[in-house]
Amino acid sequence: MNKQGEVNKKAWSYRAYELWVNKFGLPKDVAKDMIRQPKIYLRRDIEFLGNVNGKKIANLLGSCGRKAIPLAILGADVTIVDISEDNKKYAIEVAKEAGVNLTYIVSDFSELNIDEMRNSFDITYMEGGILHYFLDLNEISQKIYSMLKIGGRLVLNDFHPIRKIFKVRDIFEVRDDSLELTGDYFENELKIGAVAYEKLFPVAEQNEFPKCLLRYWTMGEIISSFASAGFIIDKLVEGPRFDSNKNIPGEFTLIASKLKIQR
Ligand SMILES: C[S@@+](CC[C@H](N)C(=O)[O-])C[C@H]1O[C@@H](n2cnc3c(N)ncnc32)[C@H](O)[C@@H]1O
Repeated sequence: MNKQGEVNKKAWSYRAYELWVNKFGLPKDVAKDMIRQPKIYLRRDIEFLGNVNGKKIANLLGSCGRKAIPLAILGADVTIVDISEDNKKYAIEVAKEAGVNLTYIVSDFSELNIDEMRNSFDITYMEGGILHYFLDLNEISQKIYSMLKIGGRLVLNDFHPIRKIFKVRDIFEVRDDSLELTGDYFENELKIGAVAYEKLFPVAEQNEFPKCLLRYWTMGEIISSFASAGFIIDKLVEGPRFDSNKNIPGEFTLIASKLKIQR
């Protein structure tokens, strides 16, 4: 595994199962709620995913199954690829309680052998903190393209690259200095960052959390990378920040299609 993958695997494996139980609840309770209202878990993404019944979906970096299991409840055949065993443990327990099948591959996606998965998925779906885990975006977009069937669709929701120039890059973290400008939008080196859930633990324990290594991409790099992999861009939808600064973009969703024979 490359250095970035190793570091991020360690970070995402640290106390993750414990966190999911504390934050979301016991697998049996979470499963019950997902069965009751699966679409709520998919937020606005359901609009872009469409009717998923009978669809084969790769939920890349799908974490503890908060999106994959509701998709399976709605009738999709879902495969998660994620680097953390802890996430798998929680996701598999919830899926079992919900009575749905879930294929869960624990792997660094950049090192996953996809030979058996080429041209096999209707949708590749990723959301909520994805692209900064990869140092080579072209390699990732080509892999995703290869996994899709002709006519297949990419639905990618991620944090907006504009956050690169704010002092606080985490768009969930509301602080007075959140929007103070700093840094360089065009920087391209790896940065040390906290694992997303670290701040949900008591302050005294936060220092013990292993850190992540992140590469923050610009919007131009993201769109160019998926376009050069062969995708036809259908839509790029930008949405506001999650805090009170609704006049600034916080996230985006890229919808793109694979329409022709693999290059
Ligand atoms: C912020 S989460 C994404 C949100 C997630 N889709 C959800 O349902 O909550 C990022 C996920 O990426 C995984 N991850 C990080 N680097 C990875 C890599 N190189 N390959 C596969 N998974 C990775 C982490 O384990 C984590 O579950």
